[in-house]
Amino acid sequence: MAIIADGKNGLFTLHTKNTTYQMKADAFGTLLHVYYGERTDHTDKSYIICGRNRGFSGNPYGMGKRKEYSLDVLPQEYSCYGTGDYRISALKVQNGDGSQAVQLRFQDYRIRKGKYAIPGLPAVYALEEEADTLEVILEDAASKVEIHLLYGVLEENDIITRAVKIINRGDDGILLQKAASMNLDFLDGDYEWLTFYGRHVMERNIQRDELTHGIHAVGSVRGTSSHHYNPFAIVCEKNADEEKGSCYGFSFLYSGEFQMEAEKDQVDQTRVICGIHPDNFAWNLRPGEAFDTPEVMMTYSGAGFGTLSRNLHRTIRKNICRGEWKEKRRPVLINNWEATYFQFSGEQLVQMARKAAGLGIELFVLDDGWFGKRDDDNSGLGDWYPNEKKLGCTLKELADRIVECGMQFGLWFEPEAVSEDSDLYRAHPDWAVAVPGRQPDLSRNQLVLDFSRADVQDYIIGRMSTIFEETPVTYVKWDFNRSICDKYSMALEAQSQGEFAHRYVLGLYRVLETLTEKFPRILFEGCSGGGGRFDAGMLYYTPQIWCSDNSDAIARLSIQYGTSFGYPISAMGAHVSAVPNHQTARIVPFATRGSVAMAGTFGYELDITKIPEAEGEEVKRQIHWFKAHYDLIQSGEYYRLRAPSDRQCTVWETADPKGKEALVTAVYHHVEGNAAPVTVKVQGLCQEVYYRMCLNMEGMTQLPEEMREKFLQCLPYGYHEGETVTGAALRQCGLVIPEALEEFQAWQIHIVEV
Ligand code: GLA
Repeated sequence: MAIIADGKNGLFTLHTKNTTYQMKADAFGTLLHVYYGERTDHTDKSYIICGRNRGFSGNPYGMGKRKEYSLDVLPQEYSCYGTGDYRISALKVQNGDGSQAVQLRFQDYRIRKGKYAIPGLPAVYALEEEADTLEVILEDAASKVEIHLLYGVLEENDIITRAVKIINRGDDGILLQKAASMNLDFLDGDYEWLTFYGRHVMERNIQRDELTHGIHAVGSVRGTSSHHYNPFAIVCEKNADEEKGSCYGFSFLYSGEFQMEAEKDQVDQTRVICGIHPDNFAWNLRPGEAFDTPEVMMTYSGAGFGTLSRNLHRTIRKNICRGEWKEKRRPVLINNWEATYFQFSGEQLVQMARKAAGLGIELFVLDDGWFGKRDDDNSGLGDWYPNEKKLGCTLKELADRIVECGMQFGLWFEPEAVSEDSDLYRAHPDWAVAVPGRQPDLSRNQLVLDFSRADVQDYIIGRMSTIFEETPVTYVKWDFNRSICDKYSMALEAQSQGEFAHRYVLGLYRVLETLTEKFPRILFEGCSGGGGRFDAGMLYYTPQIWCSDNSDAIARLSIQYGTSFGYPISAMGAHVSAVPNHQTARIVPFATRGSVAMAGTFGYELDITKIPEAEGEEVKRQIHWFKAHYDLIQSGEYYRLRAPSDRQCTVWETADPKGKEALVTAVYHHVEGNAAPVTVKVQGLCQEVYYRMCLNMEGMTQLPEEMREKFLQCLPYGYHEGETVTGAALRQCGLVIPEALEEFQAWQIHIVEV
């Protein structure tokens, strides 16, 4: 059993395969956090909590003269504002009388098989035999606020999830001013944390900071999870790296405003809190009502970041992504955005589709500009009616012609946006988000549709459903191209405006839930100007997300590297695009662009009718290679072998979970004269098994014959015909990456059991 409850002593122990988590309700009724880390036994570990009189840290009234008992220093499961804990807190409540105080005491607990779900919100799910739920109930005696702390334990995955249900059992309405999803108190304070910052076209860069005294925080107040900080963080020991050290991952299944905070307190303890950002949050809870927080997924690894990431990858793939497309092989697509932008005709699209089909591409995605009056980004959003004049036919006719070419058909939407110059806005100006009496902020010349309103949600569900019913659409790119400010809904009372930001996200989830359930055949890909809403919450509805609007293969090395800490390859939308690249003007070989896009969902985004014949042949070979290694790439175990910060080369690997094969990809981002050899330690193989190394020669097809000859002569011995090497050798001595023959050379090395 993954959950062991000793009700008499208020002791709760959660075990996963490699980790243990423990909490204890003490004699006073405070639920103390005791331990989270490497797996241990379920005996009471609370002996490590030291009570000591700390000046200016007060004592709860009921504690008599025990000056050593203070909520200000005790490790707690769920901290509260206003009653003697002066650190950052998880819960802040304004009571009916205006006071801001709660103090929680243990009441009861329940254990059940299976994983809890959260109404209206994404959550990790599992078969009943794969997970257990612990629910611990706490209460504030004065206000009758009841807190249900939910713990989902996925033993095999080394995952513990957390969420909170808050119920107002009192007679007065209360206002939730902060309702975080989790609080984790460490008894020591020697930590660093990795957070993932960025901007449009440069998402998820890694920052590693020491958690010094004071409050450290990242978050978003942009309505979405944002390009700027990702709702994922790792807290780790100072020496932790890919393969060693204790580290804790926190992934928030939420696509709206979030905050992740850490504070090192006066006695060097560290508190981590994660939840909805409190800045735009004030939720009214009338008597009898309940509020559900979104979920946080936690994992611990005692063996560095690599294991931590793989725990998350597996869980996202199997226990967060849903529907037909979770396991089904996803099509290699071509998207027309960077090929045409807004300027295209139906005929041109059909020509592209025909050419693409001939090269082996399987899905044609028609991006922005097919609807309303939309020839640039000034108008048309909201008018989800095909522009038949521009297409030269109906959308159905166009889709049918593309299907006749042997391709599937996909469509771009930006359902949450509306242009001022649109019929929808003219008909329903109150559906746009704006503060009364003020002109709203425009971004990409557009406004935001008020997704907190049920009528707006229903309208979008209806419009999109009609298109899906009339047209053979099998893929949808769900975009959102701005941040949200002027947060105000015409449909909410004045005192409920603080609920807008969260209600918006609930509305978005309702629309996504309805459409994905109604049209299971459709593969939804998330997008927000690339990776502006790349979070585990979206992955519950859309199993892949366009990773970045930056399609330059070299820039993508660091974007995809940063993303891989929290998210699997199968979630990262990645395409081969034209050179010079439209975002960076960089020129990168076609083969390298292919190798980098294969570390994602793989597709193309260029004018396929204009590529030279030789590149067309490369497309065929790339697709062939990708499909041959699809399972290994998409569901293999992922290893980061060299970071983009390395002097020469970024290297990653996916290994078959049983160790039968692995694929190592190396990209030279910097070429040096007379360069030192690049050697990497291959992981995930069986020690005693012999393997052969097969180098994908795709990158050499364009090279002059004499250069190829020279290269082959210098190829490390391991690659020679008939050579085999053990898994142990590849792990301990390593694999030499062939040298770079040109700038931005990529090598793919398939290692196969003999
Ligand atoms: C966003 C997306 C792009 C493209 C454009 C269309 O920027 O990220 O891929 O779809 O919108 O306007």
